[in-house]
Amino acid sequence: MLPDLANKAAEARENALATYSGFKVGAALETKDGRVYTGCNLENVSYGLTVCAERVALWKALSEGAREFRRIAVVTDGTKATPPCGACRQLLWEYCGDISVHLHSLNGAAEQHQLADLFPHPFDRF
Ligand code: THU
Repeated sequence: MLPDLANKAAEARENALATYSGFKVGAALETKDGRVYTGCNLENVSYGLTVCAERVALWKALSEGAREFRRIAVVTDGTKATPPCGACRQLLWEYCGDISVHLHSLNGAAEQHQLADLFPHPFDRF
């Protein structure tokens, strides 16, 4: 059974539009005051305009006014837990700081990392 935040990511994953890759991803981003914003990957026929689940969750949160974050959960059905892509790491770092990143596969694989460990030596605010 998945922990609560990962469960919300798994529910969001059901809405993924993974038409081209077949790889569905769900994310759930939690604010410091306990609100949760979810996202799923949304693919597009031009491929390059695809948006990752993490970024959908982040844009939803920021556009609703959320500014302080604690954790993100990411759920896939890969053979191992899948960490955020480089572009999402950059954006999560800029807007969320050193949050805790909880990675789960539906097959039971799970990992937890600090974002600072996944994204060392960042390009930062100047
Ligand atoms: N994807 C995500 O949603 N999050 C990630 O961190 C890695 C990749 C999506 C993008 C694309 O729709 C599919 O997974 C395959 O790359």
